[in-house]
Amino acid sequence: MDWFKDLDSEKIPEHIAIIMDGNGRWAKAHGKPRVFGHKNGVKSVREITEGSAEAGVRYLTLYAFSTENWSRPKLEVNALMSLLVQTMDNEITTLMKNNIRLRTIGDISQLPEKNYQSLKKGMEETAHNDRMDLILALNYSGQADIINATKKIAAEVKEGKLNIADINCGTFSQNLSTAGIPPPELLIRTSGELRLSNFLLWELAYTELYFSPVFWPDFRKQHLYDAIKSFQQRERRFGKTGEQISN
Ligand code: IPE
Ligand code: IPE
Ligand code: MG
Repeated sequence: MDWFKDLDSEKIPEHIAIIMDGNGRWAKAHGKPRVFGHKNGVKSVREITEGSAEAGVRYLTLYAFSTENWSRPKLEVNALMSLLVQTMDNEITTLMKNNIRLRTIGDISQLPEKNYQSLKKGMEETAHNDRMDLILALNYSGQADIINATKKIAAEVKEGKLNIADINCGTFSQNLSTAGIPPPELLIRTSGELRLSNFLLWELAYTELYFSPVFWPDFRKQHLYDAIKSFQQRERRFGKTGEQISN
């Protein structure tokens, strides 16, 4: 079924970012340990990745692990990491079949070696796919990314390659881990939480926000459809007046 066929095909966001939240509460509601929620969240990742590509989205960024998530109980962190390796190894064939390229943002060199290797393998194998980029934010921090960009810019200034007066938004965007990727038009956060949790702080400056009460393991194409539908009904003003936009 073409679940997306009632959407305006001219107004499909080129880039959707998602804070996949609520796995733990979903598990709790089912009387199960938190890890059970993470396992079931994988189904949603698969479905939303496929759905986004079908709808014509060009970039899908999924927040999978924040730098703050290291503070969780060791057992949960370890379970999340092994789940990631398993998922990577299982999904490469599907990514190839669907012509999807895997990328990451965040410091993946600090992940366990197994994770690093399986991500590297996934990225290498899918490097030439060009229907959609699936960008996993792993060990990611928006603030750290901004600090890193600042350091790179400062170094260029110090080396005399850049004038302070020439630093602008473009300079910053080019030095972030998302360099070359257009900013998300739509951010979805599941589970009813209303915050950004250190995700894409620079890139979300003019993004339309959509909060869904649905826990991530229950999030399906229909919910993605609702989010895109809501996005299509918004008026993006970028500082202008509504009248200027409608003319
Ligand atoms: C999101 O679900 C998954 C990760 C952060 C890895 P949570 O694990 O945060 O679930 P809740 O918020 O505790 O319900
Ligand atoms: C944000 O979710 C990180 C990911 C979805 C990976 P959290 O559930 O960790 O966010 P906070 O800590 O509740 O804000
Ligand atoms: Mg959470």
